[in-house]
Amino acid sequence: MCGIVGYVGEKQAQDVVIEGLRRLEYRGYDSAGIALVDDGAIASQKRAGKLANLEKAIADAPLPPSTTGIGHTRWATHGAPNDVNAHPHLGGARRVALVHNGIIENFAELRARIEADDHVLLSETDTEVAAQLLELQVESGIDLTTAMQRVAGQLEGAFTLVAVDGHDPSRVVAARRNSPLVVGLGDGENFLGSDVAAFIEHTRDALELGQDQVVTITRSGVEVTGFDGSPAEGRRYHVDWDLSAAEKDGHDWFMRKEIFEQPRAVADSLLGRRSAEGLLRLDEMRLSDQELRDIDKIIIIACGTSFYAGMVAKYAIEHWTRIPVEVELSSEFRYRDPILDYSTLVVAISQSGETADTLQAIRHARLQRSKVLAICNTNGSTIPRESDAVIYMHAGPEIGVASTKGFLTQLVACYLLALYLAQVKGTRFGDEITEIIEQLEEIPAHIESVLAGADAIYELARSQLGARSVLFLGRHAGYPVALEGALKLKELAYIHAEGFAAGELKHGPIALVEDGMPVLCVVPPLGRDQLHDKMLSGIQEVRARGAYTICLAEEGDDRIAPLADVLIRLPRVPVLLQPLLAVVPLQLFACELATAMGHDVDQPRNLAKSVTVE
Ligand code: F6R
Repeated sequence: MCGIVGYVGEKQAQDVVIEGLRRLEYRGYDSAGIALVDDGAIASQKRAGKLANLEKAIADAPLPPSTTGIGHTRWATHGAPNDVNAHPHLGGARRVALVHNGIIENFAELRARIEADDHVLLSETDTEVAAQLLELQVESGIDLTTAMQRVAGQLEGAFTLVAVDGHDPSRVVAARRNSPLVVGLGDGENFLGSDVAAFIEHTRDALELGQDQVVTITRSGVEVTGFDGSPAEGRRYHVDWDLSAAEKDGHDWFMRKEIFEQPRAVADSLLGRRSAEGLLRLDEMRLSDQELRDIDKIIIIACGTSFYAGMVAKYAIEHWTRIPVEVELSSEFRYRDPILDYSTLVVAISQSGETADTLQAIRHARLQRSKVLAICNTNGSTIPRESDAVIYMHAGPEIGVASTKGFLTQLVACYLLALYLAQVKGTRFGDEITEIIEQLEEIPAHIESVLAGADAIYELARSQLGARSVLFLGRHAGYPVALEGALKLKELAYIHAEGFAAGELKHGPIALVEDGMPVLCVVPPLGRDQLHDKMLSGIQEVRARGAYTICLAEEGDDRIAPLADVLIRLPRVPVLLQPLLAVVPLQLFACELATAMGHDVDQPRNLAKSVTVE
């Protein structure tokens, strides 16, 4: 979704802002723009398309030197991604420039009010209305901070607004409600960004903002207030990753880099989770043991890949704790009037911590007195801040739009939650829990061995260049893996792909199978005999109809060989942990096939990394 950068300091704002926008490119966008404070006026430039278009426009008509500026990458929601709709938007006197993420819901009413006063608006956008309102305020003689407080208080909806006043190079002012914004704290300079990637090369000290706050950055300081002007404070934190984590490090895509980072990411997410006595310990678990013992139902809410992590979590939590678990898409959750109370634990899984559907779902849950636990990767984001407890994934920044290490570390966090609940509720013996944790600790080495086979998977992917439709089959914990494999292929290769529970195939989807159609099959471990046998029957059924079967099965599974056109081996692990390994070849497959098709793997068409609108 939209990327926002603001800067005031001693450096050239144009360089800082453009570089910041480049680091936010991963969020997904289709136009970009910049505004600088120029000696009593605003200098700005904006273009549809990628940053290169904006840079070319600036090269053709250079902007003046300035040390105060704002920038924006826009992911179109309302209005085409063209030059006019791109941000920044300026007030009628071109004194105030504003960038905006979100939707101002009462903009029609505000627009009518402005137009009734004979002010002309150039575009149809809600952002221009806010820019005009801000400008009218500063023209009345008040400073930009006070103007922002007054304007933000009139707006309804979800928004981050960041503005500069051409008459005041000393400050950049922002307001936020339900939309991401963090402050970067520098020395003689300060920053604003949709996330810390915007300023990570300048500072790793950040300030998390609360809801309905206005922040003013100057060279020497940061001031936070409520919309009503009352003093407020942000939460300072240190970002635990650095610039190198936001570089491709020799890989062609961030996604590929992140796939190969998974052994380390999984190891990091397991780090420091056991006390000296061997007990599981979750530092950010702000729920008491008694509150956890009182839980009699868990509802997991999430979107996309995170939802599939939630589906795997259901198997683990129910098996290890015997607490019933429902898994629900965040976007559907509150509209079905879910049955919630204080003994329901709602687990919100979100890599970004900013997904609007999930955010609104947790707010609904808390209104119904349920406790909310977030599983999240992004320190300083909204979902963990608004939750009662959080388990951080510690994956490091995920920049490729398609989630990879996010999925694996979400799974780890879910397993840890399940085991922690089992420990607190006493549904598993301590040595059983220890055994599973030890198995988890072996996973990074197992992922390494799957990654060692990447070349064969790449070759397989390239051999499928002409595929029009691909099916993915799984059972039990392998079913969400099949769904995730299909999602990866859809979003990166734009190929029709569907994941099915293998047992469901014969109830309809098998009609899709055609001669030569690739079908990727996640085969359960041998130890689960019934499941394994049933999966083999499913594979036989599709083979009988001409499918080209690509099977992922554990080492030593000899029964699968005659049924596989291609066999990818997985290290032997318990069935509940198999998703951590089985998904990796599917990620490599989608990444390579999309690359061979000439697609932009890190920024697939129409997609945004963090979806901050409902
Ligand atoms: C797919 C993908 C998305 C996200 C979904 C939720 O590769 O990345 O489906 O998983 O948008 O995002 P988070 O986890 O940030 O809430």
